[in-house]
Amino acid sequence: MEKMPFSEALHASLPAMEYPAAHETTTTDWRRQLPVLTAGSVTLRALRADDADSLFELLTTEEVARFISPPPSTADGFRRFIQWAAHEQAAGRYACFAVVPAGTDTAVGIFQVRQLDASFDTAEWGFVMGSAYWGTGIFAQAAPMVIGFAIDWIGVRRLEARAAVQNGRGNGALAKMGAVREAVLRQSFARHGQHYDQHLWSILADDWKTARSARVPQVH
Ligand SMILES: CC(C)(COP(=O)(O)OP(=O)(O)OC[C@H]1O[C@@H](n2cnc3c(N)ncnc32)[C@H](O)[C@@H]1OP(=O)(O)O)[C@@H](O)C(=O)NCCC(=O)NCCS
Repeated sequence: MEKMPFSEALHASLPAMEYPAAHETTTTDWRRQLPVLTAGSVTLRALRADDADSLFELLTTEEVARFISPPPSTADGFRRFIQWAAHEQAAGRYACFAVVPAGTDTAVGIFQVRQLDASFDTAEWGFVMGSAYWGTGIFAQAAPMVIGFAIDWIGVRRLEARAAVQNGRGNGALAKMGAVREAVLRQSFARHGQHYDQHLWSILADDWKTARSARVPQVH
């Protein structure tokens, strides 16, 4: 997602929020608690306050942040972002998963889904991981779970993504997920005083479900 909806300047302080303990949650309402999703060598789970340090360390390098809107510039900024994410989730506007490689409890990236309309019929997703985890297969295992979450849990019908034209990995990753490249959004992304064109990609729920049922052997 080229536009991280969190802004350090806008969200300088937020009221304290109570996080439900896992054992208290029996509902399947994602607004109250995100599911824990696992495939292969990766788990996706809700962000926790103590993810701030690893996310700050891994997601603020120039290589990683080159084509995304500026991440928080301090570990404290990431703590505020995590708090903000919980509020937005509770309000039903946004969901953010931490990417946790198997055998660790360390968040090495995030997947975000945000509504583009009030009903969450149309949404935008985005993803970023520390560069040590690029090309490891983690993205390819995690991304289908996030798409499935958006479609099956939230009810998204059209899932958009934007990626700067120069962002080879970002565009390659979206193409791998079967997203359809629809348009070039001219000079739609600003970074370090420069404006970049972006590709607009989409995945439709109907297409995703059809492709999924073709992949999963049907038992009759
Ligand atoms: C986007 C991101 C999460 C993807 O994870 P990843 O592990 O790099 O993704 P993968 O390696 O599984 O897939 C990337 C694909 O793009 C391909 N690719 C790499 N460079 C490319 C280029 N210049 N042009 C076209 N495709 C390219 C890769 O070969 C790979 O495809 P393959 O597996 O079929 O070979 C990660 O690169 C990242 O965090 N980047 C920085 C943040 C970012 O740009 N986010 C996207 C904003 S939309």
